[in-house]
Formats: sequence, structure tokens, C-alpha cells
Amino acid sequence: MMEPLAQSEARLRHAFAAAGQGHVFRFWPSLAPPARERFLAQLESIDLALLARLVQEMKGGAPVAALDLERLAPAPFIALPDTPGARRGESRARRAGEELLRAGKVAALVVAGGQGSRLGLEVPKGCLPIGPVSGCSLFEWHFAKVLATRLRVGADIPLLILTSAATDAATRSFLADRRCFGLPERDVLLFRQGMLPAVDGAGRLLLSAPDSLFLSPDGHGGTLAALVREGVLDELERRGIEQIFYFQVDNPLVKVLDPTFLGRHVLARSEMSSKVVIKRDAAEKVGVIARAGRKLGVVEYSDLPRDLAEARDAEGRLLFRAGSIAIHAISVRFVRSLHEAGVRLPFHRANKAIPCVGDGGEGGAIVSQDGCKFETFVFDALPRARKALVVETDRAQEFSPVKNAAGENSAETARADLVRLFRSWVEAAGFRVEGGQARIEISPLFSLDQEQFVRRLRKECLLCREGLLLS
Ligand code: UTP
Repeated sequence: MMEPLAQSEARLRHAFAAAGQGHVFRFWPSLAPPARERFLAQLESIDLALLARLVQEMKGGAPVAALDLERLAPAPFIALPDTPGARRGESRARRAGEELLRAGKVAALVVAGGQGSRLGLEVPKGCLPIGPVSGCSLFEWHFAKVLATRLRVGADIPLLILTSAATDAATRSFLADRRCFGLPERDVLLFRQGMLPAVDGAGRLLLSAPDSLFLSPDGHGGTLAALVREGVLDELERRGIEQIFYFQVDNPLVKVLDPTFLGRHVLARSEMSSKVVIKRDAAEKVGVIARAGRKLGVVEYSDLPRDLAEARDAEGRLLFRAGSIAIHAISVRFVRSLHEAGVRLPFHRANKAIPCVGDGGEGGAIVSQDGCKFETFVFDALPRARKALVVETDRAQEFSPVKNAAGENSAETARADLVRLFRSWVEAAGFRVEGGQARIEISPLFSLDQEQFVRRLRKECLLCREGLLLS
């Protein structure tokens, strides 16, 4: 039986007051009944014990690190192959990955629940036009890669999309309007991550409106809990899926479902594997994968002590150079085991200006206030893996994220990097591209990599109207 509204109000008032958060009811008298009901439902979803812990940690100010920073050493990684033996190892891995894909044991998972606040778009980041010639969206670009891989290996490969309250509805209608870009609907699984409240410097909850707490997505680490909570992990197990290829929606260069990476991951019996690129210089703002004892993990650039960030080996290379690019292979069994062991990823703090209802006045005018958001990071699962693997990839081929509206790491730089990559494929096929300004786009449906492009072009040189666009 449903609890009467007055009773839940009294219960929640008591609980929030006991937690030192009674101020969230300050606009209650002015709220209409439907707003009151919504507000109570939202308050119900808040884990007050967790909140108390987060506030306590925030006030203590201790750094949040999944690795012991006192014992950091560089992580071992598989470097880009530069010897015949290493190339043979790569081919072996590729064959193993192809076999896994053909057996229908892999799902792709793209995280697209972030608010994209630096980009400042009205729509989810995945809807951003990215094709240098076609102007197709990030979503379409990734969907095409999954579709092309399905066609190449002749197996079903589900695409899982992590959304949040900030992106879910818009993502669903964007994809429905475009009929999931040709992927069967039953193989496109959207699932929602959790939301967390933000607090001011004193640890008090912030309101985004008189009848609503300020909530933000719980970080890409929320993927792991959401897979379980939303029943997606059960579904993967039911379908016999063993591995998840994880990536971020804002990187158009990612080799979605890269068979070589998947093959290395399974051949090593790794529970979680990560791709890295070599850091450009000591000051580059990317996290590095490092080791503390037998554990691997990512150390954020702001946490890496400067002397370590700048340390070099005998050959003059940065010691801590394995820059994390948020591409992982994760075994389904590992996700299940984390859940069964009750593992909770650490909560990181981000101090941000938060738009919220000011303290004064009845009207609920929105002001910008310094506050603290909490989020978990998926890479913090790495130290939990009994076996983890790190694999180097080439930045020019695989990493160009869209973070900002202009300048570095923007849609413009990502498009330029796509064009540069495609130009290198065209040249590898023996053609010359005239003019530095040429825009080139090669649809993933035509070729997923340079090797396939060169092969197809040689074979079908006169027929290549389908996916090669030159201007
Ligand atoms: P970022 O950390 O770069 O965040 O996310 P963002 O939301 O894209 O942009 P800002 O920081 O607000 O400007 C990297 C990837 O992780 C996903 C994002 O959608 C993006 O693909 N992500 C991030 C989530 O899915 N959920 C989150 O809670 C945070």
C-alpha cells in the first residue's frame, strides 16, 4: 500500500533534518501538490548515509586515489609493435579477437550520460555533427562502426548506450527518429546511470529549483552499477556475451570493437584492459596508468607528483607516459564479480560553479554558487582486476576527443584529425591528395581501417562511389 503523502513528508523531513539537510524543505509552503509529490520522490532517492560520508570526506580534504600514491611505479604496457615477433603477436591477437566477435561474444558500450557542460550544447554530445564531409553525428559515426563490424564478422553485436537523466529522453528520440541508423532495435540497449546531489562548502545540499535538488550524473564509473541495476548485465549473460568494448561518445577516432585489442585482452585472460597513448609532454593533462605493487590504476594528472610527472628513463622518455584514453575491454564476469563483492568505486570531488536557488528570497532566483559535485570513474575498477592489461595505441589513429566548443579538443580539431587520418589511408592506397585544404571522409561502412581501405580500393577502384567522398 502506498504511504500517504503527509506521512512520507513527515518521515523525510525528519530524516533530512537529522542529517543536517532540513533546509531543502524551505520552499515547501509555496509548492503545489504535484510539485510536492515530485520533490518527495526525489528526496526518497537520496542515499543520506552515503551523502554524510561524502561530506565528511570533503571536509577532511583527503585526496581520493584508487592507488597508493607513495608506491607509484610506471605500469608495464604492450608497446606498438616494431619487430617481426611483435607483429606476429599482433596478428595472433587480431585473429583471436575476430574469432570472439564472430562467436557473438562481444558487446560495444558507449558512455553518453555526461552533461557536456564545456561544449555547451542544447542536445546530447552524441548528436553533435562530426563527419568532415557528411556532417553526420557522433552517434551515427559510432553506429556505423558497429554495423560494419557486424557485417564483417557475420554476428550480432549489441550496442549498449549509457545515458543519464540529462541525456536519456533526447538520445532516445534522436535515435528513434533515425531508426537507430540501421542497427536492429533489439540490439540497441539504452540504460541509465544514477544521479548524485551536489553540496556547498558547508556540505549543504543545493537546490536547482524550489521543488528540486541539484543533481548531476554520477560519473562514467556509474556504468558498472547501472549495468547491474538496469538488468543489462543479466541480458548480456543471457545472450552469452563475455566481453564489453567500452568507449566514450566524444572520441570519433576510436576503433570501436578493435579485434586486436579484444584479442590481446582475452589471450592475456585480463579482466579489464585499457588503451593508452604516449603523453605528449610532462604537462599534458591526461591521467596516466601506473602501478602500485601488483595493482594497476589511473592517476589523474592533478594527483601525479610533479617530480614523477617529469621523471625520465635512461632513453629520455617520460617514465609515466602511458596516457589513459578511456578505451577499455571489460569482462562481463568481472563486472558481475565486482557487484557480488559489493565493491563501490571511490567518489571523486569536482569543485564547480553550480547554478542553484539562492538562500535569500522566496522567489527562487537562480544564482551561481561554488559547490562540490561527486563522481566515480570507470578506470577505478582497474585496481580491482586480478589481471589487467595495458596496450599502447597510436594517438593519430585513435584519440581526438571533443570536449570544448573551440580551440583544443573541439569538434574542429577532431574533424581535422579525421581528415588527416583518411588522407593517410588514401596515400597508403597509392593516391595523392592535392591541396592542403581537401576534406576527406571515409565511411566506416566502406572501410574500418587502412588495411581494409587499401584492399577494397585496389579491388574496386572504379566502383568506389559508395563510401569515399572527396572534395
Ligand atoms: P567528460 O568527463 O569529458 O564529461 O566525459 P562530459 O559530460 O562529456 O563533459 P563536461 O565535463 O561536462 O564538459 C567523458 C565521457 O564520459 C561520459 C560522457 O558522456 C563522455 O562520453 N560520461 C561522463 C557519462 O556517461 N556519465 C558521466 O556521469 C560523466
